[in-house]
Amino acid sequence: MSIVQPGWSDEIEILRRESLDQLVALATIVEAAEWESTFLGPKGRVTLLLRGLSKLPVEERPLAGRAAQLLRNELATAFEPVQDRIRTESLKARLATDAVDVSLPGRVPTIGAAHPISTMIDELVQIFALLGFQAVFGPEVETARYNFDLLNIPADHPARDVWDTIHVETDGEEIVLRTHTSPMQARTMERIRPPVRVIVPGIAFRFESQDASHEWQFTQLEGLAVDRNITLADLKGTLQELARQLFGPERRIRLRCDYFPFVEPGVDFAVDCAICEGRGCRVCKHTGWLEMGGAGMVHPSVLRGVGYDPDEVSGFAFGLGIDRLAMMKYAVDDLRAFANNDIRFIRDFARAIG
Ligand code: PHE
Repeated sequence: MSIVQPGWSDEIEILRRESLDQLVALATIVEAAEWESTFLGPKGRVTLLLRGLSKLPVEERPLAGRAAQLLRNELATAFEPVQDRIRTESLKARLATDAVDVSLPGRVPTIGAAHPISTMIDELVQIFALLGFQAVFGPEVETARYNFDLLNIPADHPARDVWDTIHVETDGEEIVLRTHTSPMQARTMERIRPPVRVIVPGIAFRFESQDASHEWQFTQLEGLAVDRNITLADLKGTLQELARQLFGPERRIRLRCDYFPFVEPGVDFAVDCAICEGRGCRVCKHTGWLEMGGAGMVHPSVLRGVGYDPDEVSGFAFGLGIDRLAMMKYAVDDLRAFANNDIRFIRDFARAIG
């Protein structure tokens, strides 16, 4: 019997040393997986070794086969605890860094609330729905044609200066930020035939110096009714009903002559102060009245401009200052509170009106 070990025996021993040396150095899950596939995987070195045995002389094969099989078992047995250890350690490390402290208070999400102006608009839309008016909306960037011309305010008309206009475009077609919601009068009438009953809530813009009761952005509600036989009495009744719905059944309204190029006759209208019952207080600036807006009978030129026949139909229009209404309704004494985006104001307000 030869004392010289056959070649396969050395090969197995070398593989054994090498793999066990590497095994003790493994530290991460990735390294462990790599080791496993290098030595024990389907294309691993032990597998290849086993396959290579078929080239040995027939009489050496059983012994070599058993030795290689033993190596495979040994490595698999040695690998298992190493893999367990690495898994446990890496889990521990992950738990330590990702630890969730369940005793920490949660983050409270910021919850918004309806803006007082939106609340006011909702209320107005409801009141007018009961009176048969439909809410429509129009562009805030407007052509001078709708903002002025079709409202009987031609380019050279001095009344054009009354609205301190913010211009967007002066070359070519004159484009402005709408100075009131009135441009929707012509836009609506061009679209539909009488009877017309619409309201237009929306933002308008005027170049003004700001104070507690003036803002260059403000909110209006336009109203327009056109039909056969509409009279000033209809306008008055509508505004009276509005004041009562908003501020209680005892409210009275006041109409005074005023001038707007797109109405004839034109009025401004006010409601007696709901806070002091008309006796005079800070909210109504000691006048007993709160100005609500302008109104009047739609001017025949406006009706003609949209293709209506003023001998057939007539109408009334009004423009309501929503910010002022909200100030009185909710006793807010500085208009700027509505636009300065302070979530605390909005939330306190929403809480106050429930
Ligand atoms: N648009 C006018 C303004 O803002 C108000 C108004 C509307 C007057 C409708 C009469 C009729 O000043």
